[in-house]
Amino acid sequence: MSRQIPVGSADELMPGQRKLVFVDGRSVVLFNIDGALCAVENACPHNGASLAGGQLEGHLLRCPAHGLRFDVATGCMPGKGGLSLATFPIRNVAGKLELTVGDAPAGPCHAQLS
Ligand code: FES
Repeated sequence: MSRQIPVGSADELMPGQRKLVFVDGRSVVLFNIDGALCAVENACPHNGASLAGGQLEGHLLRCPAHGLRFDVATGCMPGKGGLSLATFPIRNVAGKLELTVGDAPAGPCHAQLS
């Protein structure tokens, strides 16, 4: 069952910014990429490194530990297959950021990304 959890004001996440929040014992990184909001678990699926300080190239976030890249919108790696980073729906509700968390694990990646 999913729940909506407030994670701050939209003013705290302007375009180009990121924010680290803690929700239900999980560390989650929020991004605003040119107005598009994304949220990913702050743990690389390769070996658990923190992704909060990873370099962002468009929608692709590079893990600082070994350099794997993940699309923060889908959680998928570029190309087919690969590891999958957990993502969370996030939206702006009247100026407040609302994160949706649930019990379902992230599904496999099938998206073709560049
Ligand atoms: S821990 Fe992220 S690429 Fe290895």
